[in-house]
Amino acid sequence: MSLANAKVSIEDRGFQFGDGVYEVIRTYKGRPFALEAHLSRLNHSATMLDLTQPYASAEWTNHVLEGITRAAYPEAKIYIQVTRGVAPRDHAYLAEALPTVVMTVREFSPLDRSIPAAGVEAMTMEDIRWGRCDIKSLNLLPNVLARQQVKQARVFEAILVKDGFVTEGAISNVMVVQEGAVVTAPEGSQILSGVTRAVVLNLALSEGLPVQERFVSRSDLYEADEVFLTGTTVEVLAVVRIDGKIIGDGCPGPIAQRLAARFTNRVDSPLL
Ligand code: PDD
Repeated sequence: MSLANAKVSIEDRGFQFGDGVYEVIRTYKGRPFALEAHLSRLNHSATMLDLTQPYASAEWTNHVLEGITRAAYPEAKIYIQVTRGVAPRDHAYLAEALPTVVMTVREFSPLDRSIPAAGVEAMTMEDIRWGRCDIKSLNLLPNVLARQQVKQARVFEAILVKDGFVTEGAISNVMVVQEGAVVTAPEGSQILSGVTRAVVLNLALSEGLPVQERFVSRSDLYEADEVFLTGTTVEVLAVVRIDGKIIGDGCPGPIAQRLAARFTNRVDSPLL
């Protein structure tokens, strides 16, 4: 149905409490990228919140593929949201609640090529999120506030720092290059396990680059040889300036460029 005709009750717990989970998937050449990994993370998020998953992976896959075919965009962004359904407002929930499921398919416009070519600017910000950032929940207020600051500062992304250590971006994961190694925050409750993050770490390993999953400090970030972001919407994107400080020589570095090129090969391959 058209977006204008899609309606959800005001008593939906997604609206009342942000009680739900979501995923964002994009297509390359009309095929959803890493759909299985996204569905498996959706399952993780739902399970962690004791939320009934409305569909098994095979059913989700059919819905996503049908949505892409019916929308018929050159490239699409698929948004999936599952909430704990409709109930009179009460923080505690009923185990038998029927989930509300929403999927939108919208046209996706990739970043203009000039952006990855030049690299982007980021700003650090205190990570004020809750203790379960591995769950892709609808509660995005800290991310909303961070992205608004990013917009006002006319930079590209917020790099979140918790207790002096870099966790991730507001809509992306953050990787740094130190002495030839690719370093990024470990999986766990402090970050979202990015689907792109996993693909890029595998590409790094297959390129023979050392990969270290550990936290780096804010000053490590400023002093890194390279910094780059990974994510569904940003792919592999070099950061050349953070808080006004120039990273490396101020241009996308060799490792970020190499991984960005490998990533492009990977998404263009017929074996997605
Ligand atoms: N966000 N970290 C956070 C906090 C994110 O919100 C995202 C993606 C990522 C990257 O994950 P992935 O590689 O799986 O896209 C990391 C989506 C795009 C969003 O909220 O719109």
